[in-house]
Amino acid sequence: MLERVLAQIDTLPDPNVLVGFDKADDAGVYLLNENEAIVQTVDFFTPVVDDPFAYGQIAAANAVSDVYAMGGRPVFALSLLCFPLGVVEENLLIEVVKGGTAKLKEAGVTVIGGHSVQDPEMKFGYAVSGLVRPDRLITNAEARPGDVLLLTKPLGTGIITTGIKFGKGERSAQEEAVSWMLQLNKSGSDMSENGVRAATDITGYGLLGHALEMARASNVTLLISEKDVPVIEGTKALVEKKILPGGIVNNRRYLGEEVAWGNAGETMQSVLLDPQTSGGLLMSLPADKMARYREILTEAGTANWVIGEVAEQRQSAIEVV
Ligand code: CO
Ligand code: CO
Ligand code: CO
Repeated sequence: MLERVLAQIDTLPDPNVLVGFDKADDAGVYLLNENEAIVQTVDFFTPVVDDPFAYGQIAAANAVSDVYAMGGRPVFALSLLCFPLGVVEENLLIEVVKGGTAKLKEAGVTVIGGHSVQDPEMKFGYAVSGLVRPDRLITNAEARPGDVLLLTKPLGTGIITTGIKFGKGERSAQEEAVSWMLQLNKSGSDMSENGVRAATDITGYGLLGHALEMARASNVTLLISEKDVPVIEGTKALVEKKILPGGIVNNRRYLGEEVAWGNAGETMQSVLLDPQTSGGLLMSLPADKMARYREILTEAGTANWVIGEVAEQRQSAIEVV
């Protein structure tokens, strides 16, 4: 339904738009001059954890992630706060805002304004602006056959946070999920120098939904090696207890015939479709650049896993192998 609505956007053509809304990429990119382009994104959502400070931090990490995913350097942000007056106490809202600001400070991002409205359901996030040199811009459209695929965070945050809502799951798994969601995808700003050709961050459409966007934009097929995809411990046990975010059903429908599932069982399929909050980066880079770049990521404290490779376009945009 949303696709039909958004298809009605008949916007002004502008030659300075390097990445527009029709591209299904992480952020819009607008050329300022020959050396600089603005990377612009906005993201906000309802609470994913009980701790208001952590919620604010996660919302901020998630919002800046789209700038990193385009190879950009986030610079400033505007906050978006929707609050149920009289339902959520003032000191909780203060903690949310403090958490967000602290995380943005860590990212080197300053808050220059924002907008707040009363809303029956709490929501929080940011519009983030970043800068990128046009020749360093990374889109999701340049993955090439022979590339390898790297992922920088394990899957399972959607399933685990749904477990939290239903009071299900191990405390240790919940803490691990939160610690991953808190992490900035900082590795994004030096991707181009290290040979990365295409990237995207993993959020609401799950690993396979965002992989599909990359496959379509790049006219390739992505081979995802099921056994190599990292999963937060405790995630599969929750799926087996039927703890499933609604997003998994939507993502399965969205992907439809575009995925060849191979031998992946029902549980792993759900994990691959799990909507992530503040998920990792999926990057495509030439095989001969991989070892060196993995060292750089590891030195920077960014976890990384090789989860598959890129092939010539086949019948399915994604093959789980
Ligand atoms: Co994104
Ligand atoms: Co986004
Ligand atoms: Co206003």
